[in-house]
Amino acid sequence: MKISLYKVNDFFFTMPISPKLLIFVEDLLINPKRKIMKIAIIGAGNMGGAVARGLAKGSLIQTSDIYVSNPSTPKLEALKTEFPEINTSTDNCEAAREADMIILAVKPWKVVEVLEELKPQLDYSRQAVASMVGGLGIAQLSEWLVKGDGILPATYIIIPNTAIATLSSMTFISSARSTAERDNLLLSIFNELGKAMLIDESAMPAATSLASCGIAYAMRYIRAAMEGGVELGIRANDAKHIVMQTLRGAVDVLAASDAHPEAEIDRVTTPGGLTIKGLNAMEAAGFTHSVIEGLRASTKR
Ligand SMILES: NC(=O)c1ccc[n+]([C@@H]2O[C@H](COP(=O)([O-])OP(=O)(O)OC[C@H]3O[C@@H](n4cnc5c(N)ncnc54)[C@H](OP(=O)(O)O)[C@@H]3O)[C@@H](O)[C@H]2O)c1
Repeated sequence: MKISLYKVNDFFFTMPISPKLLIFVEDLLINPKRKIMKIAIIGAGNMGGAVARGLAKGSLIQTSDIYVSNPSTPKLEALKTEFPEINTSTDNCEAAREADMIILAVKPWKVVEVLEELKPQLDYSRQAVASMVGGLGIAQLSEWLVKGDGILPATYIIIPNTAIATLSSMTFISSARSTAERDNLLLSIFNELGKAMLIDESAMPAATSLASCGIAYAMRYIRAAMEGGVELGIRANDAKHIVMQTLRGAVDVLAASDAHPEAEIDRVTTPGGLTIKGLNAMEAAGFTHSVIEGLRASTKR
């Protein structure tokens, strides 16, 4: 066996290595983002723009493999200034042409118009369609996508929350006509934009109630705690920072221990102490009931 010493960038390899493997290793070291998928994002608003930025910052998709379209140019120009390698266009068909996956990130009432434009040129044998549109399910999307021959593409529902802008989204993915490999690839991509979970579509309303609406509910808790803090004599901005850090702490403790929240509550509630008095006063005012009712209400259309 021939032992060779290779230097690739600043790395030395002493191993039996074929020329093909050498090219692979060299390419990986020079360009760690692999050409795994070309993604077109239709709509460069809050969601589409955040996904494009997240993908460009992530390690999986090459920036030059990201295509974004939007009818007006300012959002595209902002993206291009931040990431010159992103491909931008005011023409949806141009953005989608090369893509392996087309992600719809437009408002619900724009979807039909966008699909009517895109559908004739989509090649379902190689192009998948994903929707981030709130309230749009796979059945309705498939109905709009179906062509005369009855063929449909791999189809995904991808629902992030607004924390995708800070790469801390809770994102849910449901798929149809996909493969386990494709599902896992999407999970990996969206795990770089926060945390992603593959779920059955029937669980989407409950999941998005917890996570997408949940962002607003968490904000409302922060606001309520701030108002309480101000009444007790703490400045609003100081109260905000205190509450935010306290929530971060609660999340970190739970993540570290993997315990049920009630077990952690037990650790801070001295018998006859102040915390249990506070908790009981909150429950008497309907805290848990209010949260559950809010979650239930946000699953009803
Ligand atoms: N906000 C959330 O928490 C959340 C979570 C999950 C999913 N979603 C879903 O994500 C979708 C986008 O929401 P958003 O908050 O990102 O809305 P947005 O900021 O208004 O973005 C929509 C974008 O679509 C563009 N657009 C309009 N017509 C178009 C067309 N024909 N072709 C291509 N692009 C077009 C708009 O461009 P112009 O501004 O130039 O018109 C705008 O930049 C919605 O369906 C929403 O339900 C939202």
